[in-house]
Amino acid sequence: MSEVTERLKIAKSFGSASASYDVSARLQRHCGKHLMSWLPERENLTVLDLGSGTGFFTEILASRYQQVIGLDISKKMLGFSQQSRNPSIKWLEADAYKLPLQNNSIDFVYSNLMIQWCDPLDLVLNEVIRVLKPGGVFVFSTLVDGTLYELKASWAQIDTDQHVIDFKPTQDIKPLFEGNDRKLLNAIQEDIILEYENVIHLARELKGLGANHLPKKQGKGLAGKEKWLQMSKNYQEYKTEDEIYPATYKAFSGLMVKLSS
Ligand SMILES: C[S@@+](CC[C@H](N)C(=O)[O-])C[C@H]1O[C@@H](n2cnc3c(N)ncnc32)[C@H](O)[C@@H]1O
Repeated sequence: MSEVTERLKIAKSFGSASASYDVSARLQRHCGKHLMSWLPERENLTVLDLGSGTGFFTEILASRYQQVIGLDISKKMLGFSQQSRNPSIKWLEADAYKLPLQNNSIDFVYSNLMIQWCDPLDLVLNEVIRVLKPGGVFVFSTLVDGTLYELKASWAQIDTDQHVIDFKPTQDIKPLFEGNDRKLLNAIQEDIILEYENVIHLARELKGLGANHLPKKQGKGLAGKEKWLQMSKNYQEYKTEDEIYPATYKAFSGLMVKLSS
């Protein structure tokens, strides 16, 4: 399957979740807020929110900066944003692999939990560098290998199909933020453990976010009921004394600057 077709499927999956996204987005809120301490202080800036989703953080950016653009590949996400957010924001339906923006035109790119969907990632980072002005910054968060390891391991005991997306190891992606034209000034890795009542609660949250597209899944549709029950039993290995089902998210956040040549 081509990378473009793959991205359209990701867009469809997120689009179908535009109405349920905001109530499911506990992890996204946490990560996005942590990026706020890295925001530039000057206010007369042109800012791009890359993979803006429902526009929750785009709106916060618009309350601080002069010109804000929210860009997403999902038409439905953008439709939701346009109806509910600050009318001064400019919305763009586009793919991060082909930004419809001029070279050296953006002061600051913000991207919260979007780039884990971009494979290969280097091409997206090249696009970010292209549109940033020299000295401009890219503030991002993403998820890395080990994310949802409890769910992955519980399924791995049942079959070899893909049930969780493959998150790249930090050591594979970190070098992509360094080069002749860029430097990673800050980087933090953090384990965020969210609590769930049961495995169905976790699965519903992932579906509510639209984060359930699996590029390498072989079997069509949902796994059978038997498999699900078995997987839920396997997951009990991680259950806490308080009967809580934890799920680990490994967040990698950073601040990259475009070097002046
Ligand atoms: C997990 S959501 C994060 C949304 C938002 N940044 C937030 O913090 O709530 C990821 C978003 O990235 C978008 N996305 C995924 N791949 C994309 C691509 N190649 N180009 C642009 N947007 C993309 C999805 O449509 C989705 O809205």
